[in-house]
Amino acid sequence: MSAVKTIRLLPDDQGASCAGGILRAGGIVAIPTETVYGLAASALNEKAVARIFAAKGRPSDNPLIVHISDLSQLSQLWESVPERALILARAFWPGPLTMVLPKTPAVPECVSAGLPTVGVRMPAHPLALDVIRRAGVPLAAPSANASGRPSPTTAADVLQDMDGRIDAVLDGGACAVGVESTVVDLTGEHPRILRPGAVTLEMIESALGLTEVDEAVTRPLGAGERPRAPGMKYRHYAPKAPVTVFDGAPVRTAAHIAGLLQPGDGVLCFDDCKEAFAACPHVLCYGQSWDAAEQGRRLFSALRAFDSLPCVRILAQGCRPWGEGAAVRNRLHKSAGFNVVSVGLPVVGITGRSGCGKSLLTRLAADMGYFTVDADAVYAELLQNSGEMRAALAARFPEEAGPGGVDRRALARRVFGDEQARLDLNAVTHPFVLREIGARIAQAEAEGARAVALDVPLLFESGLDRACTATCAVLAPEDVSVGRIAERDGISPERARERLRAQPGDDFYTARCDAVLVNAGSRGEFLKKARLCLQKYGR
Ligand code: TXA
Ligand code: MG
Repeated sequence: MSAVKTIRLLPDDQGASCAGGILRAGGIVAIPTETVYGLAASALNEKAVARIFAAKGRPSDNPLIVHISDLSQLSQLWESVPERALILARAFWPGPLTMVLPKTPAVPECVSAGLPTVGVRMPAHPLALDVIRRAGVPLAAPSANASGRPSPTTAADVLQDMDGRIDAVLDGGACAVGVESTVVDLTGEHPRILRPGAVTLEMIESALGLTEVDEAVTRPLGAGERPRAPGMKYRHYAPKAPVTVFDGAPVRTAAHIAGLLQPGDGVLCFDDCKEAFAACPHVLCYGQSWDAAEQGRRLFSALRAFDSLPCVRILAQGCRPWGEGAAVRNRLHKSAGFNVVSVGLPVVGITGRSGCGKSLLTRLAADMGYFTVDADAVYAELLQNSGEMRAALAARFPEEAGPGGVDRRALARRVFGDEQARLDLNAVTHPFVLREIGARIAQAEAEGARAVALDVPLLFESGLDRACTATCAVLAPEDVSVGRIAERDGISPERARERLRAQPGDDFYTARCDAVLVNAGSRGEFLKKARLCLQKYGR
């Protein structure tokens, strides 16, 4: 292909107008979307679409997604628009969801790669919508990377692969989601996820009920097997050095990888685990271990960055598979060609404010065969039995933890309302609690436990969330918790309320936890939800 000059367009009216003009004239332009940059052409112009395949080096049997700015464009693309599609469109468009349905003859064969169906989505990026409107036609747009490379999440990434091969790139900054859209096939009896994305399985199920996940999402295909999304069969997202992914609780995978490190290795890890790799010169991070959205934003640029480091192999901490994490995990596993090692057993962290029902959930876990650990009890035992921890406490809190022993109540009073004292107390005690709980998990595993449940009020503050493979918060309306605390601890409702107010709000837990169980209705209802949750996370 002869080289073209690739124009860099700014994210203003002129840039969008110029992009629209190039597209109307049959050109190809990389545009930002909320997921990744797409390489766009008029979906109805076969010559322009052929240029996309050439620029990417994309196999011609891999169909393109068509992008629209208005629901009225659907009748041009799909034979009919079933109710299920309208429900999903209302719930998730504009947004990172592509729906696959039978196409009209107006959609060229080269767009659908010969399939009788076409995938369509309405992106949520204002610039993408603007450019589609100005182009005046639906736009076919695969991710704007060279075939096999990680998808681009910045204009610079696009240019790395596409400079001289495309007419222009519209620079809209970094993409907010960072992994490609969820692809859902609506042609079968049940919706089927062909590629996970930020619109999660849980979200689609809540809109449409039972939803299947295609096998190609979680395992490599055997020889001769044909995936429903042709793109899922190709090696993808891979840096030059081979990648191995280690799945499991972050503290376990960090320790495991640290034990394997050799000169020339690169490490892809969580921000909150990088201390484990202080001796390794090639460490890249992709977000906090609990933060799937951030991991999604950073994964592809991290994978790209390894190519400029002198690594011979890459050892990666795998992320949690729940919610949006399923999309990140799928891309990471694909980058490793599904070379994945599982480390350790399932550990479910149970947290939430006082009086919401953590202990109830923990007791249920025990009934279901989980090995359970109560972090408060471990703390109390260490206060009794660990001379080392008592000495550390006495150094910081001589009045409450003097030679006569630790007065637990006095200590609690001392730090209540005194932020610095509370942080100091935690800084002294958490390392001991962490170590002890780590030892108990190891022992449970050695004794054949299949799963562990940790009851930890300060799960995130203590860092114990990093010992978990899933985290679950139990929450309840404040009045309900106040009543429970007052009754349980024999204190006034005012005192109970005061105690609750000193704890983080619901948002803190919903942002961080894989599941949130609201304990507001009947006990039976709560236990039913809780059981499903523990079944899911205990496998
Ligand atoms: O977020 C996204 O979807 C981005 C942005 C640019 O919108 N686009 C994107 O396109 O990721 P692409 O071409 O890189 O990935 C499209 C995926 C491929 O795995 C392809 O096989 C599948 O969707 N796909 C497209 N049309 C399909 C169809 N009719 N049936 C089954 N799978 C289809
Ligand atoms: Mg792609």
